[in-house]
Amino acid sequence: MSRARRHLRALIATAATLAIVVPLGWLWWASLVPDTYNVMDMGVVDLGGGPDMDHDMHAGQDVSTFTGPDDGDPDVAITVTARKESIELVDGPTVDGYTLNGTSPGPEIRATQGDLVEVTLVNESVPDGTTLHWHGVDVPNAEDGVAGVTQDAVDAGEEHVYRFVVEDVGTYWFHSHQVSHEQVRGGLFGTLVVEPKPPGLFPGGPVVDTVDVVAAVHTYDGRRTVNGKVGESWQQAEPGSVARVRVVNTDNGPMRTWVAGAPYQVVAVDGYDLNEPTDITDTSVLVTAGGRVDVEFTVPMDGSAVRIGAGGGGASLVVGPEGATAPDDDEPEAELDLLSYGEPAPIPFELDFDRSFEYRIGRWPGFLDGRPGLWWTVNGEMFPDIPMYVVAEGDVVRMTIENTSGEVHPMHLHGHHALVLSRNGEDYTGSPWWVDSLNVEDDETYEIAFVADNPGVWMDHCHNLPHVSEGLLAHLMYDGVTTDYVVGGDADNVPE
Ligand code: C2O
Ligand code: CU
Repeated sequence: MSRARRHLRALIATAATLAIVVPLGWLWWASLVPDTYNVMDMGVVDLGGGPDMDHDMHAGQDVSTFTGPDDGDPDVAITVTARKESIELVDGPTVDGYTLNGTSPGPEIRATQGDLVEVTLVNESVPDGTTLHWHGVDVPNAEDGVAGVTQDAVDAGEEHVYRFVVEDVGTYWFHSHQVSHEQVRGGLFGTLVVEPKPPGLFPGGPVVDTVDVVAAVHTYDGRRTVNGKVGESWQQAEPGSVARVRVVNTDNGPMRTWVAGAPYQVVAVDGYDLNEPTDITDTSVLVTAGGRVDVEFTVPMDGSAVRIGAGGGGASLVVGPEGATAPDDDEPEAELDLLSYGEPAPIPFELDFDRSFEYRIGRWPGFLDGRPGLWWTVNGEMFPDIPMYVVAEGDVVRMTIENTSGEVHPMHLHGHHALVLSRNGEDYTGSPWWVDSLNVEDDETYEIAFVADNPGVWMDHCHNLPHVSEGLLAHLMYDGVTTDYVVGGDADNVPE
């Protein structure tokens, strides 16, 4: 080969290498996320086809002004102290984690609809700082507990007071929203039950359950538990009594629950009662990560007990008379479809949408903050180019959630409950099914609708919490609302 030709070949090789390396380098560089940023500067503004507005991201009312009532004596007041310490599982080993008031799960808070709840969070020893997010409770934005969006993380040695009125009955839970993928897995959570006002003396008023118990399911270090106990938990109940069990999935993946030993009804999902649920047997119901399912049944008259399954693996709850035996912990194969369960009922808004958003979840190779990998995408873009869905107060909003990412995602919108309209193009035919956490399997598309009636800046993310730290999140913001809090910053806020 002549010298000139060799020279040409070397030039071509260099050019070819640069043609690969330069764009890659650019992609790498473009993916870098600053240590400190304001979520208002993130992502892709999406008006959902609604009217344009003066969306100046840094003008308007700050999220910190949307608080619960400032004065007035609380009806329920509790101090919750967070610690990093080991947890002694009942009938199980001791594991490293986090506690609230010395235990995990932390306290079960019970309130009555309309109560003013005041929770003082004291961080005694959580080194990264912590917060409490009221999962499924549509609190005013400043009480939402998201580090870097609605407040600063509460450092060890500091405290923070949450005050809000619980307007909706139902089963809820609360958990840290600071380094949440680590703190929630480690046990930094508790449950909140809002009971209906006493039914009063009206004859034929609502049946009051004689047994009402929470079953908070959590996996500590590979061991599935119900209310912090490995294996079988026990709740005494007389034959003939009506029992409501509030199953809360605090894990990162979906699980099934079921009732064995008596027919049962699914009476509520994500805190909202279903309309005219019917008796089912030999059927399980899916509880998505972060979701809640309330089941109700009558304890058999023959003296036997009933078992509430928690995904198999030995953890379950038995309800019945002392010493009674319950059926085995076998998971029924049939699964309830909430799209067609119960009976339709009027819904409180017209399906006439002011805005329609898409939340299309995929997965692509690329760089996330400089790290190469296969990362989640939302509407074809990777974090930090995630949607900022913009609404005006009062809008009726439709959101289409599509998942083609190869994995299930439990999608959780803060501050609102959404009505499930359809799945894969099939409209719902059963009870109105309201969710704050929705299990979206691979190759599924859901349409949901909600009313924008709670101004603020709200996270809308996957509740498989490691997925959030891998970029699977978006925000919903209201026109005229802004936040001065920053992710990172002096408080080292890390909401994921
Ligand atoms: Cu249960 Cu954004 O969280
Ligand atoms: Cu996910």
